[in-house]
Amino acid sequence: MGAVILAAAESPTVGRRRRRINVLRSIVILAACIVAVARLPRLQVPTQLSLYQQQIVTLALSGSSSAGSSSSSSSSRREGSIRTRTSGGSEGGDSSSGSRTGSVKDGGSSNDSGSGSTGAVPSTQSAGEEQSEESPPSLQLQAELPPDFRFNRVVAIVAYDRFEYFRQVIDALRRAWGSEEYTVVIAIDGPPKDEQQQQHFNRQGWADTVAYSEQLAWLAERGQGFAAVHVNTSAANLGLWANKKRAVAAAFQLSDFVVVLEDDVTLERDALRWFEWHITSGLAFTRPELALATCWSASFPYWPAAVEGRDALAVRELGLLDKYWSDQWAVPWGWATWRRTWDAVGANWTGQDADLGQAVLSRGWRENIPLVARCNNIGSVGTHRAGQVDQHIHQRALTSGSFRGLATCQYRELQRANTSQHTTFEPLYAMVRQGIEGDARATAWSGKGMGEYREALRAWVAAQPDPSLYHSSC
Ligand SMILES: *[C@@H]1O[C@H](CO)[C@@H](O)[C@H](O)[C@H]1NC(C)=O
Ligand SMILES: *[C@@H]1O[C@H](CO)[C@@H](O)[C@H](O)[C@H]1NC(C)=O
Ligand SMILES: *[C@@H]1O[C@H](CO)[C@@H](O)[C@H](O)[C@H]1NC(C)=O
Ligand SMILES: *[C@@H]1O[C@H](CO)[C@@H](O)[C@H](O)[C@H]1NC(C)=O
Repeated sequence: MGAVILAAAESPTVGRRRRRINVLRSIVILAACIVAVARLPRLQVPTQLSLYQQQIVTLALSGSSSAGSSSSSSSSRREGSIRTRTSGGSEGGDSSSGSRTGSVKDGGSSNDSGSGSTGAVPSTQSAGEEQSEESPPSLQLQAELPPDFRFNRVVAIVAYDRFEYFRQVIDALRRAWGSEEYTVVIAIDGPPKDEQQQQHFNRQGWADTVAYSEQLAWLAERGQGFAAVHVNTSAANLGLWANKKRAVAAAFQLSDFVVVLEDDVTLERDALRWFEWHITSGLAFTRPELALATCWSASFPYWPAAVEGRDALAVRELGLLDKYWSDQWAVPWGWATWRRTWDAVGANWTGQDADLGQAVLSRGWRENIPLVARCNNIGSVGTHRAGQVDQHIHQRALTSGSFRGLATCQYRELQRANTSQHTTFEPLYAMVRQGIEGDARATAWSGKGMGEYREALRAWVAAQPDPSLYHSSC
């Protein structure tokens, strides 16, 4: 019987039928799996199945059928193959269309303006996931890069034992426009030896972080998700700072443009495009004092009272969505930097956030900060005296992810009233942190309506020396 089947497999018609049966079987198993997952008790699945978990499930199910396909076809359609499999459609015969423009060329020079990796985003990406209501803007060079600049896209992630945060960080990164072009370097600190430290160490969280990272690397090797994933788990406990430094150093071995995330920074879908724009616009090269860019913003802190509606109105009325400031500091919650900065400070950097800020300050360098955050910080919390979590210190009430129309943003610098002062002294700063009249986030506007709030915002804009600055391109 077995011999008969083996012999029959040589015949194309029987082979096709077998394949059809395999596909049918996959669909049945997938459906059973979806039902099973849907039935899992809520406690066991605190969050929705992440995109990666879905991919892992789908890939595991379809593994037998994709094993025979050539590696080039699976990697060239990394996005499309996921979508067609989950939607049950056919994978089509155009998988060799060469749409994989985002390959990262380790160590290569980037003399490829107008072609290859800097060209338009492949159309397979733009069909989008459930939440993206718009096509991502294409990554296009508006200026020529220095000939030896390696514009490979690399994200360094600093991780340890906070798996629930880490999973959200990966999921957000995965949804960010262009993420499939990125090599992800995950530097996981080792478990502590010291007994005192052991008490605060979440061994399960650490093991899950390592396992999840290795799953991502496995998926990437099969053309799913990121372009590549390098996991480096330290045997010894290096501490946050040393681990952060080695993460960034490893990323700079692959590229002259690096994005750095801690394990509690979730990117919005336009965050990578915002970082890349500093290179593609040529700004990083024409402004030698520009050392880095952050995705985070001091604007619109999270507040227990109902403020998000007013904050969203402020963003629209003040035209803030496409605006950034430059300031003399290095905000550590999600940042990008480039070779020049790293060459100047990398060797002597301790890995400490504040030291990087001081390096920027002492050299008269600048960092670009969007007025509306392109990421959020979900992890940093304040505590009561009793040790209970009190507030999310760096969490924003809203970010760019709260808005539509991001694809048309043309980033514009908002001139500072006095560039020698910290942004805290800017009149706009108080407004976007506290609202109109200084304490709107607390009480002043609590009994008033949105219409009144909008009038007050309009009055503020009208009173500016150049109200036309407060228009947004998106
Ligand atoms: C980049 O390409 C141009 C045109 O093809 C060529 O003239 C130049 O020498 C190249 N530069 C490098 C660094 O390869
Ligand atoms: C992992 O990191 C260590 C220390 O940063 C480095 O020496 C080693 O080469 C890395 N290993 C891999 C496989 O990248
Ligand atoms: C690093 O610090 C040492 C000692 O302070 C100094 O000699 C060296 O020039 C510094 N290197 C850089 C790149 O700043
Ligand atoms: C700008 O700020 C600096 C530092 O606080 C201050 O010394 C200077 O007088 C300010 N300039 C103006 C024009 O206000």
